[in-house]
Amino acid sequence: MRIGMVGTGYVGLVSGTCFAEFGIDVVCVDKDATKIERLKKGDVPIFEPGLEDLLDRQIKAGRIHFTTNLDEAVKGADAVFIAVGTPPRQSDGHADLSYVYQAAKEIAACMDGYTVVVTKSTVPVGTAREVEQIIRDTKPDAEFDVASNPEFLREGAAVNDFMRPDRVVIGTSSERAQKVLREVYRPLFLNETPIVFTKRETSEMTKYAANAFLATKITFINEIADLCEKAGADVQDVARAIGLDGRIGSKFLHAGPGYGGSCFPKDTLALTQTGQAMGAPQRIVETVVQVNADRQKQMASRIIAACGGDVKGKRIGVLGVAFKPNTDDVRDAPSLVILPLLQEAGAHIAAYDPEAMEQARLFLTDIDWKDEAYQVAENADVLVILTEWNEFRALDLARIGESMKEKRLVDLRNIYKLEDMKELGFHYVSIGRPDLLPESKPVLKEVTGQ
Ligand code: UDX
Repeated sequence: MRIGMVGTGYVGLVSGTCFAEFGIDVVCVDKDATKIERLKKGDVPIFEPGLEDLLDRQIKAGRIHFTTNLDEAVKGADAVFIAVGTPPRQSDGHADLSYVYQAAKEIAACMDGYTVVVTKSTVPVGTAREVEQIIRDTKPDAEFDVASNPEFLREGAAVNDFMRPDRVVIGTSSERAQKVLREVYRPLFLNETPIVFTKRETSEMTKYAANAFLATKITFINEIADLCEKAGADVQDVARAIGLDGRIGSKFLHAGPGYGGSCFPKDTLALTQTGQAMGAPQRIVETVVQVNADRQKQMASRIIAACGGDVKGKRIGVLGVAFKPNTDDVRDAPSLVILPLLQEAGAHIAAYDPEAMEQARLFLTDIDWKDEAYQVAENADVLVILTEWNEFRALDLARIGESMKEKRLVDLRNIYKLEDMKELGFHYVSIGRPDLLPESKPVLKEVTGQ
């Protein structure tokens, strides 16, 4: 078995490396020569736990190769995966498919013999059909099929998600293509991983539906959290109690500052655009997109309110800028919305993230970047937890409290217990739970000062 992987971004690199681990010969191609040179040496340009070790093993075993020459990746390949970017178009939020179509054209020109061309990038319904047309137009005598095989990888857990997926979805009605892809995913068949063979349109839709559903679930619990604050309920207990209902499930019910990342914001927006274009508006998802955007802004107001309504000249310490732990990715991270709003309100910001500071520097200015969490807390009027990195879960809070100007913590990920914070005497604001004022009993939000 031999496959080509076009695009060595997050999805292409993780998928290519894991396919090599399955025992397949993989050739990864990218136009970025500098990146290819790094990858040849096993130098992984993204932070993804476990990936560098795995890649190193595949390079040593000679099962993975990197090149800028598409021909090397396509000639003799049983399947060629398209894993290039599909960013939202600036003008309207539609997925920009120009890289996918360009790749299709170039692949067609290199194909020799029967090849399954697989769209792995997240693409709107109908894209595989379009890719097929492009290949046919470019090389009318080509022997090929086009299949859809979306990825469901979570950043920070991508290697595990690839090797032990909940399911694999393959969209093609060609038996020949099915046979090739069954062989590509053979180790997972042996593991009894559910593999859903379906039509291409269904496969493409599945990816958007899955991400939109998860984004909706998060947004739902976030709004319930707002209500819990008013009603004196505890959202964590509510989430646990409803999650025990097998029909609901406990995952993706952590209330927080709003979802971010490279997928949910982009895919929810693209789904609403497709819904509008096809005359089946996705009103729930449209609302989710709006509620989530508003929420990120509201988080800045929440921090300002915790500081008595004014942060002018105040020092705000921020722990975590990545959109979630175990990644250096800040794409659409809540931090990119919240921090500039705090700066606009006149605050000075010191921040630390274990992995994402280099990326964040490209988008955030005038931040006093620190080397560790304790430095961030020094002389701060308020400390804000924005990303739930493990290393923030067991901080010496007594030491932190001592070094701060005010013992004030805004925990947007609910990683600390109310009892502990009460004992330590912090003014503690979290999500979907009562605020704790210093040396006072828990109070409901908006009844502070009583
Ligand atoms: C997501 C999907 O999970 C994955 O299947 C898809 O292929 C790509 O998009 P990812 O973006 O890596 O993966 O992160 P994920 O763990 O899903 O988190 C997305 C966002 O939701 C993060 O901002 C996270 O903080 C937030 N989130 C997640 C919550 O706020 N609460 C939760 O309970 C779960």
